[in-house]
Amino acid sequence: MTTLTIQTAPIAGQKPGTSGLRKKTRVFMQAHYLENFTQAIFDAIGGVGGKVLVLGGDGRYFNDRAAQVILRMAAANGAARVIVGQGAILSTPAASHLIRKRGADGGIILSASHNPGGADEDFGMKFNGANGGPAPESLTDLIFARTQELMEYRILESQDVELERLGETRLGDMVVEVVDPVADYADLMESLFDFNAIRDLIAGGFRLRFDAMHAVTGPYAREILVNRLGAAPDSVVNDRPLPDFGGGHPDPNPVWAKALMDEMFGQDAPDFGAASDGDGDRNMIVGRGVYVSPSDSLAVLAANAHLAPGYARGLAGIARSMPTSRAADRVAERLGIPAFETPTGWKFFGNLLDAGRATICGEESFGTGSDHVREKDGLWAVLLWLNILAARGLGVAELLREHWSEYGRTFYSRHDYEAVAADRANALIQRLRETLADLPGQAHSGLVVESADDFAYDDPVDGSQSARQGIRLNFEGGARAVLRLSGTGTEGATLRVYLERHQPDPAHHGDDPAQALAPVAAAVEAIARIREFTGRDHPDVTT
Ligand code: G1P
Ligand code: ZN
Repeated sequence: MTTLTIQTAPIAGQKPGTSGLRKKTRVFMQAHYLENFTQAIFDAIGGVGGKVLVLGGDGRYFNDRAAQVILRMAAANGAARVIVGQGAILSTPAASHLIRKRGADGGIILSASHNPGGADEDFGMKFNGANGGPAPESLTDLIFARTQELMEYRILESQDVELERLGETRLGDMVVEVVDPVADYADLMESLFDFNAIRDLIAGGFRLRFDAMHAVTGPYAREILVNRLGAAPDSVVNDRPLPDFGGGHPDPNPVWAKALMDEMFGQDAPDFGAASDGDGDRNMIVGRGVYVSPSDSLAVLAANAHLAPGYARGLAGIARSMPTSRAADRVAERLGIPAFETPTGWKFFGNLLDAGRATICGEESFGTGSDHVREKDGLWAVLLWLNILAARGLGVAELLREHWSEYGRTFYSRHDYEAVAADRANALIQRLRETLADLPGQAHSGLVVESADDFAYDDPVDGSQSARQGIRLNFEGGARAVLRLSGTGTEGATLRVYLERHQPDPAHHGDDPAQALAPVAAAVEAIARIREFTGRDHPDVTT
């Protein structure tokens, strides 16, 4: 087999965003595009000579082709071994676990998460380090810098590697080890949770429904929920992973997982419903006739985690991304443990988890996880919920109500304005930045601005700083709004507006969230002039 050195030239725009590099699939399929980015990763981490890497993805269109290219490049760059999920499949949390379990030097995950898949949809790629977590900004900056100067890459000339059969083969001098993508991960879950209690709950007639949305978690959910926990076979639906996710958005929220919502709010609904996203790191939790907002889910999980064997010792701290509601902070306060507020994106939790300062983390974007891996983890959240319900003997609605009566309810909603012209979206944020100093004291729609800033984060572990992470508007009385631009979109700009309002009075805990938040939304409109800047009079997606 010959190692080829291919002449190339820098390709513009290969800048990793909130979670790796995401582009239209056809962009990734352009000559040298994938190869340049792969070589840039290898170079930025100081080469892969003698190293062990993990490789896998969510199975979307181009996943299999990209994996073959990356293997040939890893071999040509001198990697010792690449551990690949069978069929080049690994959920994001399973990949993170595999990196840690095998002591690998890092891994490449092929996914655009919850974005649709297909030749005309999205593809993505990211690098995770030896801790199993997404590369920090310092490294993604290096990768990007390398893409801007790269003039050649190395690749082995060879046939495709057989990735369906478990076991070891060779590609040049490199070992390719194909592993079962599910087994290790399922064992990890079994080590964290009381499977006997969950099994008893299910055997006692508790019905659940898990919607895998034709994405990567289907085989994981079937193994864990059906084979190991005894759920009825038809309780896992849409469990066959498809390269285009069956044409849908594999995004577990009330909009894209509408079928599950209808089921859970319909006649004879199951006791518990959940869905996960393209690569298995997100989750949505629904009870019979009740939707659990991700921010509430984080708070409930944190308050009850000690009921699961893996967390019986208690939590060291709770971390949430800045736009996530402050419901979890109230739990941390009650538990007497630190609460951390980080910028958006799981990579910011890595240091806190590595340093043992946070045990549970969460984002409002349907992401929750813990120190068991260094990614958010959809099925983990589902299992922790089930463990808690089994231990408490409560239904989802009862548990939520009880939580609210103890801590108050934090009404929460996110409004997304998608594919807005980038210059308009940037102008909106820029203008807000310029008016920040004038906002305190101003009254809009009955709400007085208490403070306003552009969130900056000083990492308490390594001292790194990340500025301009989103506009925060705090109102007197405890309401809050956040505005930021998405870092994962592939078309124009997406403006995200996050609204929250705390309600201590149980008499109002049953209020409609949209109504409870209407004054906050009106105040934000008056301050940010969203209609004028975006030309839209309502958001595209409300969750
Ligand atoms: C979005 C979410 C963020 C999450 C990321 C990756 O990023 O808002 O919380 O970490 O996807 O799943 P955004 O598009 O807002 O930059
Ligand atoms: Zn995801």
